[in-house]
Amino acid sequence: MIENIEQYLEEIENFQSTDPEEIEAFRVKYLGRKGILNSLFAEFKEIPNEEKPKVGKQINELKEKTQNKVNELKSVSKKKKKTQEFDLTLPSYPFETGSRHPISLTRKKIIKIFSNLGFTISEGPEMEDDWHVFSALNFPEAHPARDMQDTFFIDRNPDVLLRTHTSSVQVRVMKNSQPPIRTISPGRVFRNEAISARAHCIFHQVEGLYVDKDVSFSDLKQTLIYFAKEMFGPDTEIRLRPSFFPFTEPSAELDISCTLCGGEGCNVCKYTGFLEILGCGMVDPNVLENCNIDSTKYTGFAFGMGIERIAQLNYNVNDLRLYFENDKRFLDQFKSEF
Ligand code: PHE
Repeated sequence: MIENIEQYLEEIENFQSTDPEEIEAFRVKYLGRKGILNSLFAEFKEIPNEEKPKVGKQINELKEKTQNKVNELKSVSKKKKKTQEFDLTLPSYPFETGSRHPISLTRKKIIKIFSNLGFTISEGPEMEDDWHVFSALNFPEAHPARDMQDTFFIDRNPDVLLRTHTSSVQVRVMKNSQPPIRTISPGRVFRNEAISARAHCIFHQVEGLYVDKDVSFSDLKQTLIYFAKEMFGPDTEIRLRPSFFPFTEPSAELDISCTLCGGEGCNVCKYTGFLEILGCGMVDPNVLENCNIDSTKYTGFAFGMGIERIAQLNYNVNDLRLYFENDKRFLDQFKSEF
């Protein structure tokens, strides 16, 4: 009997498996109702009393070792199963990426078009003083734009205000460098307007400036034709209407042929065939002089457009408020563009 027990002990020590079925069969073989241990206990009753302490100790040891072995193998096999649940070769779960804002998409496209023509990008502060926003740009002292009703003032003495256009950035560029200057200034601007579908107190602009020797109105016109065709398609036509800005002379407003009807007349262009997109003109010599640029040597053109307006024509978004509300249902629609 003792020999048998030693043989079993060896068998138990050597047994290895991670297969749950094999482990269970092993357990039943030793610890089951009709298993080896129960039959050993039955045999135990028959042996002479003087052998009982020694043999009893061995049977108990065998039982304990078997139990430990079964527990150990079970826990290893469980762990293995867990790691097998992760199939590292599977593709990962898709995660939702965000989308660019339509204003960012449009700004990017505008910047790309003008950088093709050699325009650099310049940026400046949103909080400005009166001189950079108005005085340097030839606004008369009593111009209505300086009124509280149009401009957000932060302080009155000295004047600190939120810029109403990014022309202020161009003033900074002219002050700090000499021609040739070819730059565009994208940025946020602020005007004291009641918020509605067609007006907002915050919006975005891209303004452009080109100052060099012999810059003429035809340079302005060609630049804008190129822009209009790149932005709205090769069949786009432009129209310049005389206008007025304090900082340009002559000044004009630029219309493009309607992006919806192509000039036939429709709801969007109010049956005129044209849509207004920007203001422009030749930089007033006074502005050049205010910025220490010799107006007898240099001339320049400038233009300025609202990004929301361009985006509206590109994406057919007719309510300005949608651009600022961060409604996911609106923003999700721009996922396909980068
Ligand atoms: N600064 C003007 C505006 O904000 C736009 C403009 C820029 C017009 C340059 C002419 C020349 O409306």
